[in-house]
Amino acid sequence: MSIVINNLKEAIRGESKAKRLYESFSKKAEEDGFFFISKIFHSISFAEEIHIKNHLRALSVITKREYKLEDIITIDENEIQNAVKTTRENLRQAIEGELYETKKMYKEFIEKAIANENDVAELTFNLAKKAERIHAKIFKKCLKNIDKKNIKTQKIFVCQICGNVEFQRPPSRCPICEHDKKFFKEI
Ligand SMILES: [Fe+2]
Ligand SMILES: [Fe+2]
Repeated sequence: MSIVINNLKEAIRGESKAKRLYESFSKKAEEDGFFFISKIFHSISFAEEIHIKNHLRALSVITKREYKLEDIITIDENEIQNAVKTTRENLRQAIEGELYETKKMYKEFIEKAIANENDVAELTFNLAKKAERIHAKIFKKCLKNIDKKNIKTQKIFVCQICGNVEFQRPPSRCPICEHDKKFFKEI
């Protein structure tokens, strides 16, 4: 059981760092004139916040005590600011982080949750793993199109249950968590 609790805490630390990093990457993209990429970083930062909330809730349910984010992580602002590079490099860092989470970290955490018969942890890890895959795809597309001129800004919607990100309009049902479109928030 303690391994699952430790994994939840590690996931919360990872998501918190990603959330904070993407906020800074969003600001940098805006400064560089990449307005749509800035909006995407901002939206995915919001999506990571959903994962933090879900993991914290799971941790509280499993341990039967209330956890606050400050109990688990203190963000090192210097480390965040040192990580901010050009928008192109920031996208590469973001892709690497999302792929690590979806292909390695959450994959292993899910295996451990299943081995420990912990459905609560399994569910929250699973939702995050699937959303991170989508995030990686979106960042890859941004990197591919970064030099294209006249990229139109689109509406962005984030599922507040799982952190899935959709463009233009929310789907009638979230393809990741199957919740109704009313759970999508326009960013
Ligand atoms: Fe993500
Ligand atoms: Fe969802």
